[in-house]
Amino acid sequence: MSTFDDAAAATAPTSAAPPAEQGADGSALTVVVLAAGGGTRMRSKTPKVLHRIGGRSMVGHVLAAVAALQPARVVTVIGHQRELVGPHVEETMPGVVLAVQEEQLGTGHAVRIALEALPEPPSTGTVLVAYGDTPLLEAATLSAFTEAHRAAGAAVSILSGVVASPFGYGRVVRNAEGHVEAIVEEKDADDAQRAITEINSGILAFDAAFLAEVVGRFANDNANGEYYLTDAVKLARADGLLVTAHPVDDALQTEGANDRAQLAVLGREMNRRIVERWMRAGVTVMDPATTWIDADVTLAPDVTVLPGTQLLGTTTVAEDAVVGPDTTLEDCEIGAGARVVRTYGQLATIGAGATVGPFSYLRPGTELGADGKIGAFVETKNARIGEGAKVPHLSYVGDAEIGEGTNIGAGTIFANYDGVNKHRTTVGAHARTGSNNTFIAPVTIGDGAGTAGGTVVRRDVPPGALAVSSSPQRNLEGWAISRRAGTAQAAAAEAARDAAARDAE
Ligand code: UD1
Ligand code: CA
Repeated sequence: MSTFDDAAAATAPTSAAPPAEQGADGSALTVVVLAAGGGTRMRSKTPKVLHRIGGRSMVGHVLAAVAALQPARVVTVIGHQRELVGPHVEETMPGVVLAVQEEQLGTGHAVRIALEALPEPPSTGTVLVAYGDTPLLEAATLSAFTEAHRAAGAAVSILSGVVASPFGYGRVVRNAEGHVEAIVEEKDADDAQRAITEINSGILAFDAAFLAEVVGRFANDNANGEYYLTDAVKLARADGLLVTAHPVDDALQTEGANDRAQLAVLGREMNRRIVERWMRAGVTVMDPATTWIDADVTLAPDVTVLPGTQLLGTTTVAEDAVVGPDTTLEDCEIGAGARVVRTYGQLATIGAGATVGPFSYLRPGTELGADGKIGAFVETKNARIGEGAKVPHLSYVGDAEIGEGTNIGAGTIFANYDGVNKHRTTVGAHARTGSNNTFIAPVTIGDGAGTAGGTVVRRDVPPGALAVSSSPQRNLEGWAISRRAGTAQAAAAEAARDAAARDAE
């Protein structure tokens, strides 16, 4: 059997699509995902399969790979914390069938429950069984395995793996001719069987008719007292049916995370694969080790990602944009050629050619137009900033609309909150507002208007007008010398006065 190495190039879809009516090749495929187990080693109030890496839950990754096969139906077996796992699975894959396994009596029992949950148990085609905690599993691996199973005409096929330390796994027992005879679990194995390094990954494919019949024949007279799905192998052989095993080269694809240390290892490996995939697709990543990209992120060719950057959720970055260093963007949309430096952004849209940062905080609802600017120490929220408009320095822009070509002075606060309600501020196009302004919402500043430095804008400013709210400046001559006598301030004032007097001579 050839390896599934080429599968590594495959990409999972961005979200798990609902099951189709038919398998992609016209033969019915049913997929059973086992996710009823407890996962106590996570030591968590969150169920094991809902722990996240790469921006999705572990079971979310598995369901995305499964969805790419366009199976006729998908059943997920839930048990432990099913009130949390069930809704998550349904949300991830609308149309999925949930089967509740009250007590985890073994994988064979779980699959029986899964078939019973279907209105019509499949009698033709293929049933593929996978686990909900193998996040690196790829669609191409599943489909190559399913194809191999069908091509062989086997009753049961095993996605196996040859590993250095097989401890804990079911071993694939072959006869003298190399034909698969059984899977023997660790606790039931004798010394010779324990020495076998070909293991059952857990992913099995069945002829649907055979499975429907054999699930009623599992016994639990084994070391674990469980109903083993893996007993289907020896039962098929006893019936004179064919069983095949297909070793997968990339063993990590079927590896589960049982504790947080394993979760981190798989998370880093997933990220390594995602980053590599984007580099091969034309993205420059200066430091892959400090770059984190979620599975559902989309990057265009010639994007550059600088060190210390996290691109999370459904973030998209268009071509020639440069993101980073030290930037986190979650569910953001970055336009072509934009530049985003040392920024934290959530649900923000940045137009083509715009610049953001350093040290900018983009909160949800930020929309920066093409060629606009959000500069250093600027926080924005629910703010539409027009094409070419600029908020360059030290400002808070909340619940605002800023027209195209407008420049907001340094240190401006859009005071949107009166302590009870939030209000909007509208600034028109090509306005020029002074430094250190406060805009008390709700308020409107018209097109082409201006405001003087230090203005507190409480009333609307008509188009083209200049608003001045601070009182005229008075200078009390000689104040420092008379009122601050004996201080450094007074001495400096005296020196300046004496110098001016000398110059005047
Ligand atoms: C199982 C296989 C073993 C294989 C190994 C790979 C059997 C009998 N053994 O062993 O050959 O090498 O996986 O990891 O199948 N689950 C349920 N309901 C149950 C029992 C399990 O949903 O009643 C789910 C678990 O949540 C888990 C998966 O099935 O996702 C496997 O169960 P687990 O108990 O980990 O099986 P292993 O003993 O590891
Ligand atoms: Ca296991």
